[in-house]
Amino acid sequence: MTNILVTGAGGSGGISFIRALRLAENQKKIKIYVASTDHNPHFLNFSDAEVKYHSPRHDDSAFIPMLQKIIRQHNIEFLHPHPSSEAQKVSENLAQFKDVRTYLPKPSAIMPDKLTIYKILSKKGIRVPKTIEVRTYEDIERAFSEIGKPLWIRARCGAGGRLGLKVENSEQAMHWVELNRLQGRSKVSDFVIQEFLPGRDLAFDSLWYKGKLVTSYCRERLEYFLKHISLSGITGTPTIAQTIIDEKINRIGVSAVKALDPKPHGFYSTDIKENSQKNCAVTEVDGKWHTTAPLWGYSFSKVFNKPELNITYQYLKLALEGKTDGDLPTYDLFPSNYLLVRQLDAGAILEKKKDATWRII
Ligand SMILES: Nc1ncnc2c1ncn2[C@@H]1O[C@H](COP(=O)(O)OP(=O)(O)OP(=O)(O)O)[C@@H](O)[C@H]1O
Ligand SMILES: [Mg+2]
Repeated sequence: MTNILVTGAGGSGGISFIRALRLAENQKKIKIYVASTDHNPHFLNFSDAEVKYHSPRHDDSAFIPMLQKIIRQHNIEFLHPHPSSEAQKVSENLAQFKDVRTYLPKPSAIMPDKLTIYKILSKKGIRVPKTIEVRTYEDIERAFSEIGKPLWIRARCGAGGRLGLKVENSEQAMHWVELNRLQGRSKVSDFVIQEFLPGRDLAFDSLWYKGKLVTSYCRERLEYFLKHISLSGITGTPTIAQTIIDEKINRIGVSAVKALDPKPHGFYSTDIKENSQKNCAVTEVDGKWHTTAPLWGYSFSKVFNKPELNITYQYLKLALEGKTDGDLPTYDLFPSNYLLVRQLDAGAILEKKKDATWRII
């Protein structure tokens, strides 16, 4: 029996993370005792854990003491803070978690802001969208004259394409910034403005151990949840995505992760968007779990009865034993042309294009 603590266990990613471990318990005949926390007392009830605790926000001074108390009470061997803000907090304070194992990137590799990503990657010669830092409204005018139109304006910090919008001219961009300023969401200097990339919306998800790539896979997002009620059409996580195999994306994904963190350790997510000429640019690289990563592993391991494809189980195995269960391919862990279809209140389906469907939750 292994005792672990998963935080953010009531969010979509945390729920899938624990669900994937439950599947591994069944398939591998092992026992994992899961303690869990979530900041939202209602969502906490979704967690399929033995014990559930309502936690303060990551920036509350009571957050770390609470985790320490749960670790002592339940003899926790491994701590997995799932949401980025909580992972960053733990990674920054590892000295306070000496009695428990963790498997996290260094703090600076978690949730870097978009301008930092742009600077780090462009310095290493990795293609990124042309980007201008917005300090004043003159910078917006300058962006249209230097980059052209349309442009993509967004907040430097925050997830889910926060305050992102496609804008056709400086007037639209300024109104967007001004509205968000007037409504107290942001300052003018919180924005960056970038080349708009209309092509494929791709992701490279990868697991690393002490600087070595363990395994990875690529996918294309085909449609976002509730896209029609969002001005940008970007709502953070896709309702339909499809596995792809593309050597070029693998290459770009690996270079982006290494540029962010020369010794990657943990799970890293890279977002790549194509321009109209199908040239790729990296819009984000982050030492975080994309929301659906545990669910992809769960789906393939369940449908094909192959626990080695369960990326969450392999992550735990690496954290505890420093090795995976069996040899994993460094690239293309999953076959191409499989769709993961998720719908609110409906669960999820794995679909082999035009061939077969499996109800997975
Ligand atoms: N320059 C751009 N042009 C067009 N679309 C973009 C651009 N940059 C980002 N996007 C879209 O917005 C999505 C979210 O952006 P990105 O991943 O860079 O930031 P994020 O807010 O950290 O997102 P998340 O937390 O959801 O991963 C991208 O997957 C892409 O679909
Ligand atoms: Mg992203």
